[in-house]
Amino acid sequence: MDMNIVEASANIEKKGFLDVDVDPTIDLFHEIERLKKEKNAIVLAHYYQEPDIQDVADYIGDSLGLAQAAAKTDADIIVFAGVHFMAETAKILNPNKKVLLPDLNAGCSLADSAPAGLFKKFKEKYPDHIVISYINCTAEIKALSDIICTSSNAIKIIESVPEDQPIIFAPDKNLGAYLNKITGRNMVLWNGACMVHEIFSLEKITKLKMRNPNAKLIAHPECEDAILRIADFVGSTTQLLKYAVTDAANEFIVATETGILHQMQKDAPNKTFIPAPPDNACACNDCPHMKLNTLEKLYLCMEYEMPEITMEENLRVASLKPIERMLDISRKAGLIGG
Ligand code: 13P
Ligand code: SF4
Repeated sequence: MDMNIVEASANIEKKGFLDVDVDPTIDLFHEIERLKKEKNAIVLAHYYQEPDIQDVADYIGDSLGLAQAAAKTDADIIVFAGVHFMAETAKILNPNKKVLLPDLNAGCSLADSAPAGLFKKFKEKYPDHIVISYINCTAEIKALSDIICTSSNAIKIIESVPEDQPIIFAPDKNLGAYLNKITGRNMVLWNGACMVHEIFSLEKITKLKMRNPNAKLIAHPECEDAILRIADFVGSTTQLLKYAVTDAANEFIVATETGILHQMQKDAPNKTFIPAPPDNACACNDCPHMKLNTLEKLYLCMEYEMPEITMEENLRVASLKPIERMLDISRKAGLIGG
């Protein structure tokens, strides 16, 4: 192979297709459909992806739905339009399949807020506690956990643990505090948070509600307590979507990442969805990690089958156990992500 090509492909494996231009005359939707068929590939997308990616996906869902879809697919290639921990979970469940992530830099501030070394030391302070970790964490944190949960199944997962069993919850302190309130437990919380869900302004939302008195506030449980207290409904992305579509109200203020508005507007075209305002003028309720993926990068990663998620087998096996426990408890409770 030519040295430039070797260097370019090593760079792509490390960073993704950062500097590659795609011929603007290519019909990306058509090409992606062609590649899906040719390669027996499936595109799984989270609701926070840009609208074009959601429209081309075979499956759009919340973290639970995506993990369940990854666990049952018979495709040879899983193209994960989401962030790294989601694609990593798909790889943990599918060691023999190729798992691609359009941009390897698509990380997660919440997952980053729990470095494995520090968390291991924290865990050692509570030797009689079990660890329930939110799926938004690295494989290393999963390997240090007993059960994984998502915002769709967290209450059921916690309730499956005997009441006298002390629990550490990581990494999201906002979700953990919300779950303590709902379940009456007193879980020890790791001090992590999501940069997108921490940015909403209570003052601006309150003013917005006054200007739109018929609008209901719906919020993701990664938001701070002050927002959750005034919300009319709290739930995972799928639960927010279902509520917005089925509830009698016609206007909603949506306190989560803006990508979800695309499906809300598609499923309920006559309703009004207003993104909850952040505490400054930035586009902070767009997740900068999720939005690193583009339709162009999705096409390139399918064409060249990179960047690929790889992981060390011992880590994979250790991180699989708590994910399987989550899937098992969810199956028994009849919980299916959307
Ligand atoms: P859910 O889609 O499971 O509600 O998770 C939201 C999220 O923050 C994903 O990064
Ligand atoms: Fe992570 Fe928050 Fe982005 Fe979700 S929205 S991927 S939790 S940074």
